[in-house]
Amino acid sequence: MKPLNIGMVGYGLMGRAHTNAFRQANQFFSLGHRPVLKAVCGRDGKKAKAFAKNWGYESVETDWKALVARPDIDLIDIAATNNVHAEIALAAAKAGKMVLCEKPLGMSPSESLKMVNAVEKAGVANMVWYNYRRAPAVTMAKQLIEEGKLGKIFHYRAKFLQDWTISADVPQGGAGTWRLDASVSGSGVTGDLLAHCIDTAMWLNGGIESVTGMTETFVKKRKNALTGKKQEVLIDDASAFLARFNNGSLATFEATRYARGHKALYTFEVNGEHASLAWDLHDLHRLEWFDHRDEGNVRGWRSIHLSESEHPYIEHWWIPGVQIGFEHTFTHQVADFIAGLDSGEPARPNFRDGLATDYVTDAVLKSAKTGRWTKVKQA
Ligand SMILES: NC(=O)c1ccc[n+]([C@@H]2O[C@H](COP(=O)([O-])OP(=O)(O)OC[C@H]3O[C@@H](n4cnc5c(N)ncnc54)[C@H](O)[C@@H]3O)[C@@H](O)[C@H]2O)c1
Repeated sequence: MKPLNIGMVGYGLMGRAHTNAFRQANQFFSLGHRPVLKAVCGRDGKKAKAFAKNWGYESVETDWKALVARPDIDLIDIAATNNVHAEIALAAAKAGKMVLCEKPLGMSPSESLKMVNAVEKAGVANMVWYNYRRAPAVTMAKQLIEEGKLGKIFHYRAKFLQDWTISADVPQGGAGTWRLDASVSGSGVTGDLLAHCIDTAMWLNGGIESVTGMTETFVKKRKNALTGKKQEVLIDDASAFLARFNNGSLATFEATRYARGHKALYTFEVNGEHASLAWDLHDLHRLEWFDHRDEGNVRGWRSIHLSESEHPYIEHWWIPGVQIGFEHTFTHQVADFIAGLDSGEPARPNFRDGLATDYVTDAVLKSAKTGRWTKVKQA
């Protein structure tokens, strides 16, 4: 088995999720490469060292440039805030490293396009961490759609609801609240939450042709956590849009951090000529399914519990009836990435797929400003 030497930047929420996946993938999947946790990079050396000790990294860097320059690193994994994705990815590609990057790919489509060009020119393996594709129920939705079980698709409906920024006392900027600072995040819920919904939607239902959106910033000024000064809030707190897919189906998308009671309620539903399906992140091991072709007396929505070996990824885990969860989506992504290296058929979503999503979020934000339907650039 060949070693795959990992250098990861950022040791926050996603740093933990990725590292867990790097450690788990070979225990459960039969793969030709094994991730080796060579180095973690964080600006605070003491915290980075503590992370390295807890998670088993061999070494620590405090400057990502030093990490990228290391000859013993094969792959740079970007688990840092959005504002540094592009510069790290460009340098990593130039150094001939494989690059995994968190979503959204860039702060803007022009940044993302540069990232796509860099990895494609360097010919290095690349992937974006849109992990929800690899929840077994979402993968099964993809299989059912590809098998034609839904028939012609008419509607796609997605929501991603949270409630953690309702208080005007929540600051912007700094470690826990960088998502509210546009100079670090790029945008608000459009690039953060809707990006997930859009990636899944285009994977399941093809490209989006045009959108019309609206956004709102409910709290106009917040204290900056780093400077203590009150500043204008430049992110979108809530965002909703209508979309037309290239296949003629219609869609609605909504995301907000102001839906009291909802913590991470990512849901989608697809309605086809013969059947409909629905998924809910709070119950991620289930796929809701309605098939009009069932006999009338027993026809109805059924809730499929994905824990049988027939279900995607499940044969690698436990026993029927016992479900898997959020962290497994990342493990599946690592396993598929490595399987792509082994077979020469690269796993997706790649950087170009990430750019396609960024083109949609950009069109939504532009449309929200102009109040007009906006064509989506195709990646
Ligand atoms: N795929 C998902 O489900 C998912 C979920 C959450 C976050 N994300 C994405 O993951 C990324 C990280 O989010 P998070 O929730 O882990 O944030 P976080 O705040 O928990 O961690 C961010 C990390 O980036 C580090 N960082 C920032 N600038 C750096 C620099 N110049 N050099 C080195 N390290 C630097 C911070 O120190 C911190 O360790 C973001 O792009 C976010 O959009 C994806």
